[in-house]
Amino acid sequence: MPQADPPHVLEIGDGERVESATAWREQRRPRLKALLRQYVYGYAPPAPRRRFDVDEVHESVFAGAATLKRIAIRFPDLPQAAPEIRLALFVPTETETPNPAVFGLNMAGNHTVADISHLSVPAWARERETAAEHLLERGERADYWQVRETIDRGYAFATACTWDIHPDTPEMGLTKYCWHHHGDVPGALRGGALAAWAWGISRCVEYLLEDPDIRDDAIAAFGHSRAGKATLLAGALDERIALVIPHQSGTAGVALSRREATASSGETVEQIATAFPHWFNGYYPMFATDVGRFPIDQHHLVALVAPRAILATESTPEADAWTNPNAARLSIRRASTVWDLREDQTLSDDEVSQEGGSIPDDAPPILHYRRDAEHTMTPEYWEAVYDFADQHLEHGSTPSR
Ligand code: GCU
Repeated sequence: MPQADPPHVLEIGDGERVESATAWREQRRPRLKALLRQYVYGYAPPAPRRRFDVDEVHESVFAGAATLKRIAIRFPDLPQAAPEIRLALFVPTETETPNPAVFGLNMAGNHTVADISHLSVPAWARERETAAEHLLERGERADYWQVRETIDRGYAFATACTWDIHPDTPEMGLTKYCWHHHGDVPGALRGGALAAWAWGISRCVEYLLEDPDIRDDAIAAFGHSRAGKATLLAGALDERIALVIPHQSGTAGVALSRREATASSGETVEQIATAFPHWFNGYYPMFATDVGRFPIDQHHLVALVAPRAILATESTPEADAWTNPNAARLSIRRASTVWDLREDQTLSDDEVSQEGGSIPDDAPPILHYRRDAEHTMTPEYWEAVYDFADQHLEHGSTPSR
């Protein structure tokens, strides 16, 4: 039966609700992961053998405040033509190591995140330059990423580019070689770009777990818009990610697909599946005009992050209607029930959503944080991110819950 309202988060279309954290973890999580793969994102291939090559170390960037490492994640068993994932990692020098880290999936190249000479514009970026896709120069996104401020807050910052993992076209990237190498799944169940990017984030996390400068219990993942959708998926599936920060992730991200109750006027499933079918598996577009037939909704994806922490940074419906901020807020509210299963408390709707301002000292581990800002990243959002991370990655002097 099609459902106009999102199903209760403890239900997945079978009318049964799990009532304990153990049942959620043991029965629901595995089924939910499979349903999200089957209806929305598709499967990613198993990870092939990989090698982490630290190709460069530059000890004095940001006037000595950070060390920059440039790492290549290589896959020796894949054909030579398979791309490598290039990771840039900034580690603060004035803190006690190991450090908490924020991984940010960028969409324009690692060279854009900071104006540092070691981050030269790679040849592949020049080759990609077309009339439609102009090349961004070194440091052109420095204001957006605020890497220096991240270092000053005592966090390491790691970044890799979507292009290395999946080119965001109907042609698959790295994961195509993995499928060929490891055996395939039926075409309609193969993951699209979002599943591939999430897969790539997990490979980067694996490097960070091996780097002695990084605390392995304090890895956060951040992504914006389409990268935010992929980051949420990675955070939902990969429990090594301690904090997930999907920023203005919208449809197929935090925002519910069933949106009637929120009067959201932004992107619909039909629009996203028509414009970007290569982000999904082959089935998602078939439900596009009838989302009530999905047994799940996006709050289920959010709930897979529990009991770890999630900060959904959002805009307002006035400033960024396309991302459906109200449908995102409702998704967070509905998902928070799963955090309640473990705690002797019930988070109220007000506790899990905040309009602007500073993050309170006792922020719950799931929070919708809204600012009246355009579809971009700003220093104010970063401040909220680091204030939240201080608490939930137990960093700095802020007391943790
Ligand atoms: C398009 C798409 C959105 C996506 C955005 C982006 O606008 O419709 O779903 O979030 O691109 O990634 O910037």
